[in-house]
Amino acid sequence: MAPTRQFMLHHVLSAQQFASRQEIDDLFTLAESLERADYLGAVPPVLNRKILACIFYEPSTRTRLSFSSAMLKLGGQVLTAESAAHFSSATKGETLEDSIKIISGYCDAIVLRHPEAGAAERAAAVSTVPVINAGDGAGEHPTQALLDLYTIKKELGRLDNLKITLVGDLLYSRTLHSLLQLLPFYQSIELFCVSPDELRLPTKYTSLLQEKNVRFTELKDWKDALPQSDVVYMTRVQKERFASLELYEAVKDAYIFDETALGLLKSPAAILHPLPRVNEISAAVDNDPRAAYFRQARNGLFVRMALLQTVLANK
Ligand code: NCD
Repeated sequence: MAPTRQFMLHHVLSAQQFASRQEIDDLFTLAESLERADYLGAVPPVLNRKILACIFYEPSTRTRLSFSSAMLKLGGQVLTAESAAHFSSATKGETLEDSIKIISGYCDAIVLRHPEAGAAERAAAVSTVPVINAGDGAGEHPTQALLDLYTIKKELGRLDNLKITLVGDLLYSRTLHSLLQLLPFYQSIELFCVSPDELRLPTKYTSLLQEKNVRFTELKDWKDALPQSDVVYMTRVQKERFASLELYEAVKDAYIFDETALGLLKSPAAILHPLPRVNEISAAVDNDPRAAYFRQARNGLFVRMALLQTVLANK
């Protein structure tokens, strides 16, 4: 049976579905109030008796645990399949569609991570409950993009008038693919896209930026970009997406943000990374006040609380 209109409205599959800056502002206002309530130990249990299923076919630390923690803090409960590729009926040959049809009968919403781009849409097409995309291959990761914006707002006090340097694996980084669809909502954004040739932004996203009149420059070196950047967004080179280990080895150390890079960066600024990092940010950078990546991971909790409340509270 096709999902109902009501459910369609509540899937979170792509950053593209956010229609306005206002929608994101409203979510952030809720996230801020939940953050304050959490600090005071006074989060209202609005999701009492609701069940969230976290179904992860790829590894995760932050996304799965922050969604789980967000659900528990709101009074809900969590079912989890954390290595679904190995321990679910997928090993017996069950299709994603069949698994989701079954799982959606056991819960009120599904958070799904899967190695194939488009998997969240496929799941949403058969699910009777809202599906939240927690990363679909090299496709998208919309909830990460929301927490990235929330972090920039908290760190720098604004989302307009920003120069942002994106570094590393621009080809496969799904967090960036989602972020690039939200940035055009804001005024005077300028991007410096720093990557090796092999890992340049897909044309889908360069075309989008052109269409939305977002200024961007593609560079191989960050030395001219860092002194004028308000935000540096580092990414991990996504080893698991490469066709061969040789190709990965050739680009994996292309950009290492160390104390020398820190010396080039303007101040104030915010250094972001969706994490996990491998070696692309040196530990020596962690204590600099501009290193925002651990705060960014914590912010994910509040943004995901706001999202779950929005998706589930009145169901
Ligand atoms: C990212 C992901 O899974 O896409 N991690 C995350 O969710 N914070 C980035 C990555 O794995 O490099």
